[in-house]
Amino acid sequence: MKDIKVLSVASEIFPLVKTGGLADVAGALPGALAGEGVAMRSLVPGYPGVLGGLAKSDVVHRFADLFGGPAQLLAGKGAGLDLFVLDAPHLFARYGHPYTATNGIDWSDNPARFAALSRAGASVGQGLVPGFVPDIVHCHDWPTGLTPAYLAYDGGPRPGTVMTIHNLAFQGQFPASLLASLGLPPDSFTVEGVEYYGSIGYLKAGLRLADRITTVSPTYAAEIRTPEWGMGLDGLLKTRAADMAGILNGIDLSVWNPAGDAHLAARFDARRLAARARNKAALQDRMGLAVEPASLLFGVITRLFWQKGLDLLLAALPTLLQEGGQLALLGAGDKPIEDDFHAAVAAYPGRIAFTRGYDEGLAHLIQGGADSIIVPSRFEPCGLTQLCALRYGAVPLVARVGGLADTIIDANEAGVAAATATGVQFAPVTADMLDAALRRTAALYRDQPTWKRLQLNGMKTDVSWQGPARHYAALYRDLIAARRARSGSQR
Ligand code: ADP
Ligand code: GLC
Repeated sequence: MKDIKVLSVASEIFPLVKTGGLADVAGALPGALAGEGVAMRSLVPGYPGVLGGLAKSDVVHRFADLFGGPAQLLAGKGAGLDLFVLDAPHLFARYGHPYTATNGIDWSDNPARFAALSRAGASVGQGLVPGFVPDIVHCHDWPTGLTPAYLAYDGGPRPGTVMTIHNLAFQGQFPASLLASLGLPPDSFTVEGVEYYGSIGYLKAGLRLADRITTVSPTYAAEIRTPEWGMGLDGLLKTRAADMAGILNGIDLSVWNPAGDAHLAARFDARRLAARARNKAALQDRMGLAVEPASLLFGVITRLFWQKGLDLLLAALPTLLQEGGQLALLGAGDKPIEDDFHAAVAAYPGRIAFTRGYDEGLAHLIQGGADSIIVPSRFEPCGLTQLCALRYGAVPLVARVGGLADTIIDANEAGVAAATATGVQFAPVTADMLDAALRRTAALYRDQPTWKRLQLNGMKTDVSWQGPARHYAALYRDLIAARRARSGSQR
């Protein structure tokens, strides 16, 4: 029996619209929570890809004017998900990236676009759709940060609110002059409200005004309460520590299943690990690497941004090559990083390969064919590619930060002796330490029985959503109970 209703509000949802892990999480949580007695519906913007993926929908509300144009709220199923879709053509009928125009620059009306999403989320929270009146509204990242603000400043009965930080680097900061146009009252512009260093802070507002805050790993939850990684919000987060939890992400085991993965040249599981060799050969061939069964093939699947530490990997390439390694990189992002990797490919053809772009199928083949997945992030709230790597028998080599620290067990002597190790970690996050970690990984690879044990330990690790879903369900129940205890009148 599903006894609680939760509205999830997110700007991305897999498989309809995705730029990163946020979409994976928003797409997988509802299914995982169903087993925990939670009925979750997701509110997402009506991008063309989302509207195109809606099987059948009903108009449940019409807005005569929502931030500059008419809009409607649709309810329906898309890609197996229960969705509310904010169909506001003046804001969301744009192809390509959800946040930026084709020139890579943020849409100038992003403040209105995501205020509209937040406004709709708050209104559904207040009972706009009688068939689904949520107990809790769960918001993800800055594009939904104003939802708790609207609920707080509207007054009246409201659901409980949870704000999840997937990445503190993106905060949604906009000019104070927009306050009235966003439908926020003058008294909201204080340090206790939406004001953030003289601007309006969308994420800040959510973190200040939501009942509970979560982020996607316990270590990141601790890191962001320090000046080094708090990105200006550490003070606020410290004051809210009692309302904060770090809950690790899982991955969707039906999407990431090496035994049934149509993107692979050969499917495999822990009993048929040898079949990985065919994926390795297929990957080397597809990306233009020398087809060498014995070479240590590293894979990287990532957005190419400072966060992800690719400059450290570039600096460590000589070591990777000295150790006889190859590199298969898939990603897109900052032009200078892309240029550097194109240059590396030209310098080391057959050893380094770079596919620029976003390619779901190739991401799966890299997971199923690479020997090791490198994640050299400077900070990483959770990280999903190392979880997929565990599942696919690709030994993760990761920076010891955030969720990477929490999900990989280092193959130091104790870890190997206790047969618990699943990968290699390095810290501090510098090119020198990555160098050393590459050498250590190569030594482990030369010891094939130990390597195989690492692979099997990884494949046994529970990376499913089951544990995390239990945590979220417990948090929702706890919040509902706490609000009931405080006031009998609140829902
Ligand atoms: P982030 O959300 O910071 O980008 P995560 O590791 O949490 O990092 O999630 C990234 C997700 O996006 C994973 O599902 C990964 O497989 C996918 N991904 C990233 N870059 C690409 C790419 N170039 N092609 C295909 N999938 C990608
Ligand atoms: C963010 C983070 C990543 C996390 C993902 C999903 O984009 O960078 O570490 O896994 O969100 O929570």
